[in-house]
Amino acid sequence: MSDMTMGASDRATFTDMKESTQEDWEKIGGCYREFAKGHPDRILEHLKLLAGDFGGFKVDRLTHCLQTATLAHQDGKDEEYVVCALLHDIGDTLGAFNHADIAAAILEPFVSEENHWLVKHHAIFQGYYFFHHLGMDRNLREQYRDHPYYERTLEFVSKYDSPAFNPDGEILPLEFFEPMVRRVMAKPKRSLYKNISSEAEA
Ligand SMILES: [Fe+2]
Ligand SMILES: [Fe+2]
Repeated sequence: MSDMTMGASDRATFTDMKESTQEDWEKIGGCYREFAKGHPDRILEHLKLLAGDFGGFKVDRLTHCLQTATLAHQDGKDEEYVVCALLHDIGDTLGAFNHADIAAAILEPFVSEENHWLVKHHAIFQGYYFFHHLGMDRNLREQYRDHPYYERTLEFVSKYDSPAFNPDGEILPLEFFEPMVRRVMAKPKRSLYKNISSEAEA
């Protein structure tokens, strides 16, 4: 049942959550499971908001994301990694001052700890290539020199993120990556709400 076709009897009765009942939460849980199924679609739609946003770069932000994913895929990285590459800058619209944190938070339930760390820290690692042009410290990433995921994140920015501003380079279309996004985001591995959402498959 879609939200539009629901009647009042399909909805919870409380006006203060402190008074909610199990019956209320059975109704809400059913809606949540339906809503969760559309998660990959909402992510893909949000990613498309980056289209046409050049921000002074040679390619728009969506193209940059697609090229980062293309480079990672063509270099033999696995599907989860490629999805991280595709979504690493999805936070540009809502997180103008912490875009890497937004992308990392979106991906965290679905990816490994090392891939989550990579996405969360990619901006500081990428900064090595330009922070000094903005009067900033390009070596900020060195604070993580001894971190177990340092090399992994360094590889991401040097081989995939940094070279992905090339309008003449190969850029696979979003449709190519869509099935990957749907598979990686089909089921959360780590989430407070993991058990509720997985009941959808029962
Ligand atoms: Fe970024
Ligand atoms: Fe990027």
